[in-house]
Amino acid sequence: MTKKLGATISLERILSKQGFGTRKQCRIMIINEEITVNGALCGDPDTTFSPENLSFTVKGEAWDYKEKSYLMMHKPSNYECSHKTQHHPTIYSLLPHPLVVRDVQCIGRLDEDTTGLILISDDGQFIHRMSSPKHKVPKVYEVTCKHVMSDEQIAHILKGVKLIDEPAPIAALACERISDNVIHMTLSEGKYHQVKRMVAAISNRVEGLKRIQIGALKLPDDLKVGEWRWLSDNDMNNLRSKE
Ligand code: URA
Repeated sequence: MTKKLGATISLERILSKQGFGTRKQCRIMIINEEITVNGALCGDPDTTFSPENLSFTVKGEAWDYKEKSYLMMHKPSNYECSHKTQHHPTIYSLLPHPLVVRDVQCIGRLDEDTTGLILISDDGQFIHRMSSPKHKVPKVYEVTCKHVMSDEQIAHILKGVKLIDEPAPIAALACERISDNVIHMTLSEGKYHQVKRMVAAISNRVEGLKRIQIGALKLPDDLKVGEWRWLSDNDMNNLRSKE
């Protein structure tokens, strides 16, 4: 059923859909006067609101209604991109609990020792579009290598390297030297350990890996390691653009 624009929904239901608990848990919070809506206390769980542009507080914490969640995170090292982790904490532990309840998923995993830009959402279509090989969204990695990167090695990466289990050689879209041991490598696919395998295939070794850009969206300088933020309209446009 499509939701009518401007349709109103009970506060209890809005909070529950936003990840603040079951309908019953949300009802109790509202009756206990723990919720304000657009600046005013609301103690009646059945009061209806149009959710678009709704601002509310839950136990003093401010939230804006979001039909779907679109976020970016600066992934730290030693975190795993999985809900069920094996050796390290999950990146989802860095998010507020209501977002985890909404079952947000990261779009393309980074290795546990890789840092940098990762997108997170609960919109299945968006996740599919951003991760589908068909759409070839380019991703830029800052790669710190063990040995100096020679011109020949950079040329080899641009021409294509043969990886085990891959039928055809795989080439980077771009490979730019930043310093003797640091390159920026742009890839259009996201194969398992792709950067590390490509660098190993040219007899070098990755010592540090950070994703710094997806599409035209750059990891913001002011997004510190471990922090997350909502994607703005401008960020969304940058994701659509291939630059
Ligand atoms: N390539 C890798 O080898 N690791 C990552 O985490 C991402 C791309």
